Amino acid sequence: MAESMRGLKRSHRCTEVSTADIGREVTVMGWVQKSRNKGGIIFVDLRDRTGILQIIFEENDCGAESFSKAEKLRSEFVIAVTGRVEARSGAVNENLATGAIEVRAASLRILSESETPPFPIEENSRTKEELRLKYRYLDLRRPDLQRNLMFRSRIAILTRQFLAEEGFLEIETPTLIKSTPEGARDYLVPSRVHPGSFYALPQSPQLFKQLLMCSGYDRYFQIARCYRDEDLRADRQPEFTQIDMELSFVDVDDVIDVNERLLHKLFQELLGVEIPLPIPRMTWKEAMNRFGSDKPDMRFGMELKDVSDVVRDCGFGVFTGALENGGSVRGINAKGQGAMPRKQIDRLVDYAKDFGAKGLAYLSIHEDGTYKASFSKFMTEEQLKALADAMEGEPGDLLLFAADKNKVVWDVLGNLRLELARQQGLLKKDDFKFLWVTEFPLLEYSEEENRYVAMHHPFTMPMEEDWHLIDTDPGAVRAKAYDIVLNGTELGGGSVRIHQSDIQSKMFEVLGFTPERAKEQFGFLLEAFKYGVPPHAGLAYGMDRVAMLMVGADSIRDVIAFPKVKDASCLMTEAPGPVEEKQLKELGIQVREEGAEP
Ligand code: AMO
Ligand code: AMP
Repeated sequence: MAESMRGLKRSHRCTEVSTADIGREVTVMGWVQKSRNKGGIIFVDLRDRTGILQIIFEENDCGAESFSKAEKLRSEFVIAVTGRVEARSGAVNENLATGAIEVRAASLRILSESETPPFPIEENSRTKEELRLKYRYLDLRRPDLQRNLMFRSRIAILTRQFLAEEGFLEIETPTLIKSTPEGARDYLVPSRVHPGSFYALPQSPQLFKQLLMCSGYDRYFQIARCYRDEDLRADRQPEFTQIDMELSFVDVDDVIDVNERLLHKLFQELLGVEIPLPIPRMTWKEAMNRFGSDKPDMRFGMELKDVSDVVRDCGFGVFTGALENGGSVRGINAKGQGAMPRKQIDRLVDYAKDFGAKGLAYLSIHEDGTYKASFSKFMTEEQLKALADAMEGEPGDLLLFAADKNKVVWDVLGNLRLELARQQGLLKKDDFKFLWVTEFPLLEYSEEENRYVAMHHPFTMPMEEDWHLIDTDPGAVRAKAYDIVLNGTELGGGSVRIHQSDIQSKMFEVLGFTPERAKEQFGFLLEAFKYGVPPHAGLAYGMDRVAMLMVGADSIRDVIAFPKVKDASCLMTEAPGPVEEKQLKELGIQVREEGAEP
């Protein structure tokens, strides 16, 4: 039977007990990791969130009643033990913080019994993730997840401290808001009081934090929950957490400065890693040209080279065709990979095709300096040599080329570059390489919607020197937007905001809003801009991503207590689920059978 806490008080967590306590009496509580009965003497590994402490039960010390209880102990029982700390009688366990001591039990209470868990509670579990997520409360007992969540808590606390010291106010913004379908798809919440009307859950606090600047709060931050109904990946969840901030009377450099110091502090205090400041900056254009990505991984080189001019007059139709269509031919040099077997190259070609390549051309330079190219028959020896030279190819190198529209070429080679780095083991998790990517395009043409869409969001300030192009060449206008990138992951992004209602109205027009629709959706913002707006700018981090990279996890699921899976469901609670007819009625909602006519 489960016993109570009456008269008991925990004196230490498991690993708070140390050699300094030898000879003292302690009361410790936790879960039984393991219990071994050696006949007359029982060893129990007691576990709590700090780690493991060894307890010894002998009938002479703890009495017959406690000893017989100890004989019943099994994994995951919750117990309380009072006893004396002793130097370890057996061999010292170097792997444990408490490896040199043990607690000789004087009494035992079983606070809760446990059935055999569906999987062992241990570090580096090999249990399938689906099962672990179904029993997430057990999974969360595992030391690696406990360390991750404790680490995440320290990120949040340190961030709050730092930003408070920098004069930021922590202010909450609403999570039942008006739907503004720009960017990702909204999660909608039906209103009972206004049948047929819906709230949306915020994709970010963007508009509210800008309004707080209008209201004079000067520096705001929030650790904010955000919701986006988009396809999930390892670094994307339908609900996630932002470290969100906004500052008044600032420009790009001010936002970058305070954030570099925040990142420096987090990495120094939590990991002992000194980030060299200032963090390098690169324009979007340079990032695309050199790395084929707006979030380049700076841990290794293997940069893209534009060889369009070298192949312009060659006889290879794939190359010349792409150039005639306004595209480009670019390559990367996989140093020392010239002997890569055909099969492995074919896999790279397939990989490239996943990113939209029609093919991948390659040229290997043999150790004797001769060439083997997939397009040998279309080029003279001189042309091959010119191409190899342009790529700084040396004997033993493998050169890979993509020819297509710029966007495809960048995407293909940018991803191929990462794949080759993975294969060659160039991506060390404890090598932290930061980069600011700046001067993003303001707009991006959406083939799907047949119009320009905002690359960041519609409130981002265009660069003054480009604004005159807004009607003639909107795609060429750059924005005062910036992303902070770490090891190929977009940690956060932000921008200077438009604070002039005429520029904001023009932006809505370019994005295809009629004045009526702009007013309907964003009227409150345009209205607010009539009453004195400070210039303002801000940034938001994906806090889950920050935690993931800092602890070296492969997915943000490993730093979120109760994450969702790919189809946005929760395997533990089985959300989303059906609701009662009565609830639907109250909301004025009728659910159609799947496949039925509307
Ligand atoms: P943005 O949309 O770039 O900017 O989001 C900021 C950061 O949030 C993280 N993030 C996500 N993390 C996990 N799961 C997701 N589905 C997800 N989506 C985004 C990323 C991203 O860099 N309001 C602006 C910020 C600003 O301009 O101040 C915004 O939300 O790490
Ligand atoms: P083919 O003449 O179609 O056999 O193509 C010759 C070589 O060009 C093959 O190695 C193809 O994989 C490659 N190739 C085809 N399309 C492209 C492309 N868009 N970019 C780069 N290489 C390509």
